[in-house]
Amino acid sequence: METVYFIAGDGIGPEVMSVAQEVVKEALKLHNLEQAITWQELLAGEKAFQETGEYLPEETLATLKRARFAVKGPLTTPVGKGFRSLNVTLRQTFDLYACIRPIRYFQGVSSPVKHPEKVDMVVFRENTEDVYAGIEWQANSSEVKKLISFLEQELNIALNPESALGLKPMTEKGCKRLIKKAIEYGLQNNRKSVTLVHKGNIMKYTEGAFRNWGYELAREEFAGKVITEQEAQENKKGLVLKDRIADAMFQEVLLRPEEYDIVATTNLNGDYISDALAAQVGGLGIAPGVNKGDNLAIYEPTHGTAPTIAGQDKANPCSMILSMAMLLRDMGLSKVAFSIEQAVEKTIAQKTVTIDLASQMEKASVLGCKAFGERVISNLA
Ligand code: NAI
Repeated sequence: METVYFIAGDGIGPEVMSVAQEVVKEALKLHNLEQAITWQELLAGEKAFQETGEYLPEETLATLKRARFAVKGPLTTPVGKGFRSLNVTLRQTFDLYACIRPIRYFQGVSSPVKHPEKVDMVVFRENTEDVYAGIEWQANSSEVKKLISFLEQELNIALNPESALGLKPMTEKGCKRLIKKAIEYGLQNNRKSVTLVHKGNIMKYTEGAFRNWGYELAREEFAGKVITEQEAQENKKGLVLKDRIADAMFQEVLLRPEEYDIVATTNLNGDYISDALAAQVGGLGIAPGVNKGDNLAIYEPTHGTAPTIAGQDKANPCSMILSMAMLLRDMGLSKVAFSIEQAVEKTIAQKTVTIDLASQMEKASVLGCKAFGERVISNLA
Protein backbone atom coordinates (compact mmCIF):
# COMPACT_ATOMS: atom_id res chain seq x y z
CA MET A 1 0.00 0.00 0.00
CA GLU A 2 1.44 3.34 -1.06
CA THR A 3 0.07 6.82 -0.35
CA VAL A 4 -0.18 8.92 -3.47
CA TYR A 5 -0.77 12.59 -2.74
CA PHE A 6 -2.78 14.58 -5.24
CA ILE A 7 -3.20 18.27 -5.96
CA ALA A 8 -6.31 18.64 -8.12
CA GLY A 9 -5.09 21.89 -9.69
CA ASP A 10 -6.89 24.89 -11.17
CA GLY A 11 -9.09 25.30 -14.26
CA ILE A 12 -9.64 21.89 -15.88
CA GLY A 13 -7.36 20.28 -13.25
CA PRO A 14 -10.11 18.87 -10.98
CA GLU A 15 -12.01 17.41 -13.98
CA VAL A 16 -9.06 15.58 -15.51
CA MET A 17 -7.82 14.53 -12.05
CA SER A 18 -11.07 12.82 -11.02
CA VAL A 19 -11.48 11.07 -14.39
CA ALA A 20 -7.87 9.83 -14.32
CA GLN A 21 -8.22 8.60 -10.72
CA GLU A 22 -11.34 6.69 -11.70
CA VAL A 23 -9.45 5.02 -14.58
CA VAL A 24 -6.61 4.07 -12.22
CA LYS A 25 -9.03 2.69 -9.59
CA GLU A 26 -10.79 0.51 -12.18
CA ALA A 27 -7.49 -0.68 -13.68
CA LEU A 28 -6.18 -1.63 -10.23
CA LYS A 29 -9.44 -3.48 -9.52
CA LEU A 30 -9.08 -5.41 -12.76
CA HIS A 31 -5.66 -6.62 -11.61
CA ASN A 32 -6.90 -7.34 -8.05
CA LEU A 33 -4.75 -4.53 -6.71
CA GLU A 34 -7.43 -2.21 -5.28
CA GLN A 35 -5.38 -1.77 -2.12
CA ALA A 36 -2.19 -0.67 -3.89
CA ILE A 37 -2.89 3.07 -3.66
CA THR A 38 -4.35 5.31 -0.96
CA TRP A 39 -5.15 8.73 -2.37
CA GLN A 40 -4.68 11.78 -0.17
CA GLU A 41 -5.48 15.30 -1.27
CA LEU A 42 -3.15 18.24 -0.73
CA LEU A 43 -4.12 21.84 -1.22
CA ALA A 44 -2.37 24.15 -3.66
CA GLY A 45 -3.44 26.88 -6.07
CA GLU A 46 -6.79 28.67 -6.07
CA LYS A 47 -8.55 26.05 -3.92
CA ALA A 48 -5.83 26.42 -1.30
CA PHE A 49 -6.09 30.20 -1.45
CA GLN A 50 -9.85 30.09 -0.88
CA GLU A 51 -9.55 27.70 2.05
CA THR A 52 -6.37 28.91 3.74
CA GLY A 53 -5.48 32.31 2.27
CA GLU A 54 -2.27 30.85 0.85
CA TYR A 55 -1.54 29.47 -2.61
CA LEU A 56 0.96 26.95 -1.34
CA PRO A 57 0.20 26.19 2.33
CA GLU A 58 2.99 25.13 4.67
CA GLU A 59 1.14 21.88 5.38
CA THR A 60 1.29 20.89 1.70
CA LEU A 61 5.02 21.56 1.61
CA ALA A 62 5.62 19.70 4.88
CA THR A 63 3.71 16.64 3.63
CA LEU A 64 5.48 16.62 0.28
CA LYS A 65 8.81 16.72 2.09
CA ARG A 66 8.11 13.21 3.38
CA ALA A 67 6.34 11.94 0.25
CA ARG A 68 7.58 9.72 -2.55
CA PHE A 69 4.77 10.00 -5.09
CA ALA A 70 2.42 12.85 -5.94
CA VAL A 71 0.25 13.77 -8.90
CA LYS A 72 -0.90 17.25 -9.71
CA GLY A 73 -3.21 19.02 -12.10
CA PRO A 74 -2.07 22.26 -13.74
CA LEU A 75 -1.84 25.34 -11.55
CA THR A 76 -2.52 28.90 -12.62
CA THR A 77 0.41 31.25 -12.37
CA PRO A 78 -1.35 34.34 -11.00
CA VAL A 79 -0.39 37.30 -13.14
CA GLY A 80 1.23 40.07 -11.17
CA LYS A 81 4.67 41.19 -10.20
CA GLY A 82 6.67 39.25 -7.71
CA PHE A 83 4.50 36.12 -7.63
CA ARG A 84 6.59 33.09 -8.36
CA SER A 85 5.04 30.30 -10.39
CA LEU A 86 3.80 27.57 -8.04
CA ASN A 87 5.17 24.98 -10.44
CA VAL A 88 8.63 26.51 -10.36
CA THR A 89 8.43 26.81 -6.55
CA LEU A 90 7.56 23.11 -6.21
CA ARG A 91 10.40 22.11 -8.56
CA GLN A 92 12.92 24.24 -6.71
CA THR A 93 11.76 23.44 -3.17
CA PHE A 94 11.98 19.69 -3.73
CA ASP A 95 14.90 19.82 -6.17
CA LEU A 96 12.90 17.98 -8.85
CA TYR A 97 15.80 18.13 -11.27
CA ALA A 98 14.62 15.78 -14.02
CA CYS A 99 11.63 16.55 -16.21
CA ILE A 100 10.80 13.33 -18.01
CA ARG A 101 8.45 13.22 -20.97
CA PRO A 102 7.84 10.03 -22.99
CA ILE A 103 6.73 10.80 -26.53
CA ARG A 104 5.06 8.22 -28.73
CA TYR A 105 2.34 8.07 -31.34
CA PHE A 106 -1.23 7.01 -30.75
CA GLN A 107 -2.93 5.51 -33.81
CA GLY A 108 -5.58 7.84 -35.21
CA VAL A 109 -4.22 11.12 -33.85
CA SER A 110 -3.66 13.66 -36.59
CA SER A 111 0.05 14.38 -37.10
CA PRO A 112 1.93 16.78 -39.41
CA VAL A 113 4.45 14.10 -40.51
CA LYS A 114 4.15 10.99 -42.70
CA HIS A 115 5.38 8.42 -40.20
CA PRO A 116 4.65 9.62 -36.67
CA GLU A 117 4.67 6.00 -35.48
CA LYS A 118 8.47 5.99 -35.85
CA VAL A 119 8.75 8.34 -32.86
CA ASP A 120 9.17 6.52 -29.56
CA MET A 121 11.40 8.63 -27.37
CA VAL A 122 11.76 9.73 -23.78
CA VAL A 123 13.11 13.22 -23.12
CA PHE A 124 15.05 13.84 -19.89
CA ARG A 125 15.29 17.60 -19.45
CA GLU A 126 17.42 19.19 -16.72
CA ASN A 127 15.05 21.24 -14.60
CA THR A 128 17.08 23.43 -12.25
CA GLU A 129 19.98 25.10 -14.08
CA ASP A 130 20.81 26.85 -17.36
CA VAL A 131 19.36 30.18 -18.47
CA TYR A 132 16.15 29.03 -16.79
CA ALA A 133 17.67 29.92 -13.44
CA GLY A 134 16.13 33.31 -14.20
CA ILE A 135 19.21 35.34 -13.31
CA GLU A 136 19.10 38.30 -15.63
CA TRP A 137 19.28 42.07 -15.62
CA GLN A 138 17.31 44.60 -17.59
CA ALA A 139 19.14 46.78 -20.14
CA ASN A 140 20.36 50.08 -18.67
CA SER A 141 19.52 49.08 -15.08
CA SER A 142 22.02 50.06 -12.39
CA GLU A 143 22.77 46.35 -11.80
CA VAL A 144 23.57 45.66 -15.44
CA LYS A 145 25.81 48.72 -15.61
CA LYS A 146 27.76 47.44 -12.58
CA LEU A 147 28.17 44.04 -14.15
CA ILE A 148 29.24 45.47 -17.51
CA SER A 149 31.88 47.62 -15.90
CA PHE A 150 33.09 44.70 -13.74
CA LEU A 151 33.42 42.50 -16.84
CA GLU A 152 35.30 45.24 -18.67
CA GLN A 153 37.69 46.10 -15.86
CA GLU A 154 38.32 42.66 -14.38
CA LEU A 155 37.97 40.31 -17.32
CA ASN A 156 38.70 42.58 -20.27
CA ILE A 157 35.35 41.88 -21.92
CA ALA A 158 34.00 44.76 -23.98
CA LEU A 159 30.22 44.73 -24.13
CA ASN A 160 27.79 47.12 -25.69
CA PRO A 161 26.82 49.26 -22.65
CA GLU A 162 23.18 49.04 -23.71
CA SER A 163 23.15 45.24 -23.32
CA ALA A 164 20.73 43.32 -21.15
CA LEU A 165 22.50 40.36 -19.53
CA GLY A 166 21.52 36.88 -18.34
CA LEU A 167 23.50 34.07 -16.72
CA LYS A 168 23.67 30.42 -17.70
CA PRO A 169 24.87 28.52 -14.61
CA MET A 170 25.58 24.82 -15.12
CA THR A 171 27.33 22.45 -12.75
CA GLU A 172 28.99 19.06 -13.10
CA LYS A 173 26.74 17.67 -10.36
CA GLY A 174 23.58 19.11 -11.97
CA CYS A 175 24.38 17.71 -15.41
CA LYS A 176 25.65 14.34 -14.24
CA ARG A 177 22.67 13.54 -12.01
CA LEU A 178 20.26 14.23 -14.90
CA ILE A 179 22.29 12.15 -17.36
CA LYS A 180 22.56 9.38 -14.76
CA LYS A 181 18.77 9.23 -14.48
CA ALA A 182 18.49 8.95 -18.28
CA ILE A 183 21.11 6.17 -18.49
CA GLU A 184 19.56 4.23 -15.60
CA TYR A 185 16.15 4.47 -17.25
CA GLY A 186 17.67 3.24 -20.52
CA LEU A 187 19.30 0.25 -18.86
CA GLN A 188 16.23 -0.67 -16.78
CA ASN A 189 13.89 -0.43 -19.74
CA ASN A 190 16.11 -2.15 -22.26
CA ARG A 191 16.29 0.89 -24.52
CA LYS A 192 18.84 1.20 -27.33
CA SER A 193 20.47 4.58 -26.88
CA VAL A 194 20.81 7.80 -24.91
CA THR A 195 21.58 10.93 -26.93
CA LEU A 196 23.14 13.95 -25.22
CA VAL A 197 21.69 17.00 -26.96
CA HIS A 198 23.76 20.15 -26.53
CA LYS A 199 25.00 23.30 -28.21
CA GLY A 200 28.61 22.73 -27.21
CA ASN A 201 30.05 23.94 -30.51
CA ILE A 202 29.11 27.49 -29.47
CA MET A 203 28.84 27.36 -25.66
CA LYS A 204 31.87 25.25 -24.84
CA TYR A 205 32.03 25.57 -21.07
CA THR A 206 28.32 25.08 -20.39
CA GLU A 207 26.70 23.03 -23.17
CA GLY A 208 30.02 21.48 -24.21
CA ALA A 209 30.70 20.56 -20.60
CA PHE A 210 27.27 18.87 -20.42
CA ARG A 211 28.37 16.58 -23.24
CA ASN A 212 31.82 15.90 -21.75
CA TRP A 213 30.41 15.23 -18.26
CA GLY A 214 27.97 12.77 -19.84
CA TYR A 215 30.72 10.68 -21.42
CA GLU A 216 32.79 10.94 -18.24
CA LEU A 217 29.88 9.68 -16.13
CA ALA A 218 29.35 6.76 -18.50
CA ARG A 219 33.03 5.77 -18.17
CA GLU A 220 33.06 6.22 -14.38
CA GLU A 221 29.77 4.57 -13.44
CA PHE A 222 28.50 2.47 -16.33
CA ALA A 223 31.60 0.84 -17.80
CA GLY A 224 30.70 -2.36 -19.63
CA LYS A 225 27.03 -1.40 -19.82
CA VAL A 226 27.15 1.83 -21.80
CA ILE A 227 29.13 2.02 -25.06
CA THR A 228 30.07 4.77 -27.51
CA GLU A 229 28.83 4.94 -31.11
CA GLN A 230 32.31 3.91 -32.22
CA GLU A 231 32.13 0.78 -30.03
CA ALA A 232 28.64 0.02 -31.38
CA GLN A 233 30.09 0.05 -34.90
CA GLU A 234 32.67 -2.45 -33.72
CA ASN A 235 29.75 -4.71 -32.74
CA LYS A 236 30.09 -4.26 -28.99
CA LYS A 237 26.82 -4.66 -27.10
CA GLY A 238 25.33 -2.18 -24.66
CA LEU A 239 23.29 0.99 -24.31
CA VAL A 240 24.76 3.39 -26.88
CA LEU A 241 25.65 6.87 -25.63
CA LYS A 242 25.77 9.41 -28.44
CA ASP A 243 25.65 13.16 -28.72
CA ARG A 244 24.17 15.59 -31.18
CA ILE A 245 24.30 19.36 -31.58
CA ALA A 246 20.84 20.70 -30.76
CA ASP A 247 20.05 22.27 -34.14
CA ALA A 248 21.09 19.10 -35.99
CA MET A 249 18.96 17.07 -33.59
CA PHE A 250 15.82 18.93 -34.67
CA GLN A 251 16.51 17.75 -38.24
CA GLU A 252 17.41 14.25 -37.13
CA VAL A 253 14.17 13.65 -35.24
CA LEU A 254 12.21 14.65 -38.34
CA LEU A 255 14.32 12.71 -40.83
CA ARG A 256 15.44 9.64 -38.82
CA PRO A 257 13.31 9.41 -35.67
CA GLU A 258 13.81 5.64 -35.47
CA GLU A 259 17.53 6.18 -34.69
CA TYR A 260 16.78 8.05 -31.46
CA ASP A 261 15.46 6.72 -28.23
CA ILE A 262 16.26 8.50 -24.96
CA VAL A 263 17.29 12.15 -25.08
CA ALA A 264 19.19 13.76 -22.19
CA THR A 265 19.50 17.50 -22.46
CA THR A 266 19.86 20.87 -20.80
CA ASN A 267 16.92 22.96 -19.59
CA LEU A 268 16.29 25.27 -22.54
CA ASN A 269 17.06 22.70 -25.26
CA GLY A 270 14.78 20.29 -23.42
CA ASP A 271 11.96 22.78 -23.37
CA TYR A 272 12.11 23.16 -27.15
CA ILE A 273 12.72 19.56 -28.12
CA SER A 274 10.01 18.05 -25.92
CA ASP A 275 7.33 20.33 -27.37
CA ALA A 276 8.60 19.82 -30.93
CA LEU A 277 8.56 16.04 -30.55
CA ALA A 278 5.11 16.05 -28.96
CA ALA A 279 3.84 18.17 -31.87
CA GLN A 280 5.45 15.74 -34.33
CA VAL A 281 3.19 12.95 -33.07
CA GLY A 282 0.18 15.30 -32.85
CA GLY A 283 0.17 14.80 -29.13
CA LEU A 284 1.07 18.14 -27.60
CA GLY A 285 -2.19 18.12 -25.65
CA ILE A 286 -1.99 14.49 -24.55
CA ALA A 287 1.68 14.12 -23.59
CA PRO A 288 2.32 12.96 -20.02
CA GLY A 289 5.21 13.98 -17.77
CA VAL A 290 6.89 13.78 -14.41
CA ASN A 291 9.26 16.00 -12.45
CA LYS A 292 11.61 13.88 -10.37
CA GLY A 293 14.17 14.42 -7.70
CA ASP A 294 16.00 11.83 -5.62
CA ASN A 295 13.16 11.47 -3.09
CA LEU A 296 9.96 12.80 -4.61
CA ALA A 297 8.33 12.47 -8.04
CA ILE A 298 5.41 14.69 -9.08
CA TYR A 299 3.48 13.40 -12.09
CA GLU A 300 1.54 15.97 -14.09
CA PRO A 301 0.01 16.65 -17.48
CA THR A 302 2.08 18.89 -19.72
CA HIS A 303 -0.84 21.21 -20.57
CA GLY A 304 -2.04 24.17 -18.51
CA THR A 305 -5.32 25.03 -16.83
CA ALA A 306 -7.21 25.75 -20.10
CA PRO A 307 -9.43 28.34 -18.35
CA THR A 308 -11.75 28.87 -21.33
CA ILE A 309 -13.08 25.30 -21.17
CA ALA A 310 -12.85 24.76 -17.40
CA GLY A 311 -15.94 23.31 -15.73
CA GLN A 312 -17.57 22.37 -19.05
CA ASP A 313 -16.67 18.68 -19.20
CA LYS A 314 -14.77 19.31 -22.45
CA ALA A 315 -11.18 18.76 -21.32
CA ASN A 316 -9.10 15.90 -22.67
CA PRO A 317 -7.95 13.82 -19.68
CA CYS A 318 -5.38 11.75 -21.68
CA SER A 319 -2.33 13.65 -20.48
CA MET A 320 -3.36 13.16 -16.84
CA ILE A 321 -4.31 9.49 -17.38
CA LEU A 322 -1.00 8.74 -19.11
CA SER A 323 0.93 10.60 -16.39
CA MET A 324 -0.71 8.27 -13.87
CA ALA A 325 0.35 5.30 -16.00
CA MET A 326 3.94 6.56 -15.59
CA LEU A 327 3.38 6.70 -11.83
CA LEU A 328 2.11 3.12 -11.76
CA ARG A 329 5.13 1.93 -13.72
CA ASP A 330 7.46 3.65 -11.24
CA MET A 331 5.56 2.00 -8.39
CA GLY A 332 6.37 -1.36 -9.96
CA LEU A 333 2.84 -1.83 -11.33
CA SER A 334 3.85 -2.07 -14.99
CA LYS A 335 1.03 -4.43 -15.92
CA VAL A 336 -1.59 -1.96 -14.70
CA ALA A 337 0.20 0.89 -16.48
CA PHE A 338 0.28 -1.12 -19.69
CA SER A 339 -3.46 -1.91 -19.44
CA ILE A 340 -4.24 1.79 -19.11
CA GLU A 341 -2.02 2.80 -22.02
CA GLN A 342 -3.57 0.11 -24.21
CA ALA A 343 -7.08 1.24 -23.25
CA VAL A 344 -6.27 4.87 -24.09
CA GLU A 345 -4.77 3.78 -27.39
CA LYS A 346 -7.84 1.69 -28.21
CA THR A 347 -10.25 4.49 -27.29
CA ILE A 348 -8.42 6.92 -29.58
CA ALA A 349 -8.23 4.35 -32.38
CA GLN A 350 -12.03 3.90 -32.05
CA LYS A 351 -12.28 7.64 -32.76
CA THR A 352 -14.29 8.29 -29.63
CA VAL A 353 -12.43 11.30 -28.30
CA THR A 354 -12.75 14.74 -26.73
CA ILE A 355 -13.37 17.76 -28.91
CA ASP A 356 -9.71 18.85 -29.18
CA LEU A 357 -8.76 15.53 -30.84
CA ALA A 358 -12.07 15.04 -32.67
CA SER A 359 -11.71 18.38 -34.47
CA GLN A 360 -8.46 17.07 -36.01
CA MET A 361 -9.83 13.65 -37.04
CA GLU A 362 -12.19 12.50 -39.74
CA LYS A 363 -15.51 10.99 -38.64
CA ALA A 364 -14.75 11.02 -34.93
CA SER A 365 -17.43 11.00 -32.21
CA VAL A 366 -17.08 13.72 -29.60
CA LEU A 367 -17.17 12.65 -25.95
CA GLY A 368 -17.04 14.78 -22.83
CA CYS A 369 -14.20 14.41 -20.35
CA LYS A 370 -16.15 12.01 -18.09
CA ALA A 371 -17.57 9.94 -20.94
CA PHE A 372 -14.09 9.59 -22.43
CA GLY A 373 -12.88 8.25 -19.09
CA GLU A 374 -15.77 5.78 -18.99
CA ARG A 375 -14.90 4.63 -22.52
CA VAL A 376 -11.27 4.08 -21.47
CA ILE A 377 -12.51 2.06 -18.48
CA SER A 378 -14.70 -0.09 -20.73
CA ASN A 379 -11.65 -0.73 -22.93
CA LEU A 380 -9.45 -1.89 -20.03
CA ALA A 381 -8.22 -5.43 -20.43
P1 NAI B 1 -3.01 25.71 -21.70
O1 NAI B 1 -2.30 24.43 -21.91
O2 NAI B 1 -3.86 25.83 -20.51
O3 NAI B 1 -3.94 25.99 -22.98
C1 NAI B 1 -3.45 26.05 -24.33
C2 NAI B 1 -4.59 25.63 -25.28
O4 NAI B 1 -4.77 24.21 -25.20
C3 NAI B 1 -5.94 26.24 -24.95
O5 NAI B 1 -6.63 26.43 -26.16
C4 NAI B 1 -6.63 25.17 -24.12
O6 NAI B 1 -8.03 25.23 -24.17
C5 NAI B 1 -6.09 23.89 -24.77
N1 NAI B 1 -5.98 22.77 -23.81
C6 NAI B 1 -5.02 22.61 -22.86
N2 NAI B 1 -5.22 21.48 -22.20
C7 NAI B 1 -6.28 20.88 -22.74
C8 NAI B 1 -6.97 19.67 -22.48
N3 NAI B 1 -6.56 18.82 -21.53
N4 NAI B 1 -8.06 19.37 -23.23
C9 NAI B 1 -8.46 20.18 -24.19
N5 NAI B 1 -7.86 21.35 -24.51
C10 NAI B 1 -6.78 21.70 -23.78
O7 NAI B 1 -1.90 26.86 -21.73
P2 NAI B 1 -2.00 28.43 -21.41
O8 NAI B 1 -3.28 28.97 -21.97
O9 NAI B 1 -0.73 28.99 -21.89
O10 NAI B 1 -1.99 28.57 -19.83
C11 NAI B 1 -3.16 28.70 -19.02
C12 NAI B 1 -2.73 28.67 -17.54
O11 NAI B 1 -2.14 27.42 -17.24
C13 NAI B 1 -1.70 29.73 -17.15
O12 NAI B 1 -2.03 30.26 -15.89
C14 NAI B 1 -0.40 28.97 -17.05
O13 NAI B 1 0.49 29.54 -16.14
C15 NAI B 1 -0.90 27.61 -16.56
N6 NAI B 1 0.01 26.50 -16.91
C16 NAI B 1 0.27 25.62 -15.91
C17 NAI B 1 1.08 24.53 -16.17
C18 NAI B 1 1.34 23.58 -15.05
O14 NAI B 1 0.73 23.68 -14.01
N7 NAI B 1 2.26 22.64 -15.22
C19 NAI B 1 1.68 24.29 -17.49
C20 NAI B 1 1.30 25.25 -18.48
C21 NAI B 1 0.49 26.34 -18.18
